[in-house]
Amino acid sequence: MRSRDHVTTAAAMICAALMLAAPAVAADTPAFGQPISPPDLAPWDISIGPDGAGLPPGRGNPAQGQAVFAAKCQACHGEKGVGKPNDALVGGFGTIASDGAAVKTVGSYWPYATTLFDYIRRAMPFNETKSLTADEAYAVSAYILNLNGVIGADDMLDAQSLPKVKMPNRDGFIPFPR
Ligand code: HEC
Repeated sequence: MRSRDHVTTAAAMICAALMLAAPAVAADTPAFGQPISPPDLAPWDISIGPDGAGLPPGRGNPAQGQAVFAAKCQACHGEKGVGKPNDALVGGFGTIASDGAAVKTVGSYWPYATTLFDYIRRAMPFNETKSLTADEAYAVSAYILNLNGVIGADDMLDAQSLPKVKMPNRDGFIPFPR
């Protein structure tokens, strides 16, 4: 009985000592790590809104984009973006509303051209993401939009002109305000 009392007392003292030693933590923060610094955040903070908010400086046209595409995209997306082995980036117009036969591509389906720039810059080339310069991303976006007949062969894309591009299926979505 006695020795058990000793053990209980010792345990209580250890607990008290541990509680005193614990650092003071503000009640409303979980105390995980430390706030990220702006330079560390910048490479991740690259989202672009449909209105073009967040687009970087730079520019490119379809001819410049054709060279980027041939060097860095064609092996996976086929000549002129027709697809194989990976996704087709052109065509499918007029199929979206058809029952079960929709061919969804950048040209036939995507509602905003700014999303194309955002996606390419963050996710392509698939095997070397975030490797394109802003100029290359504008140029290859211009090339894909031109292949789809959405912009002209001489149109230059930059932070001002890209958000003004109207995608063919822009009005094909049903708004869902929550
Ligand atoms: C190594 C192969 C590979 C290379 C190189 C590559 N891609 Fe892709 N791409 C893919 C794959 C795989 C997907 C589908 C990814 C997914 O669904 O998550 C894809 C998807 C895309 C899409 C979206 C298609 C859609 O309708 O959903 C676009 C746009 C695109 N790639 C553009 C590019 C551009 C531009 C380049 C060159 C700068 C490029 N890709 C290089 C493999 C590649």
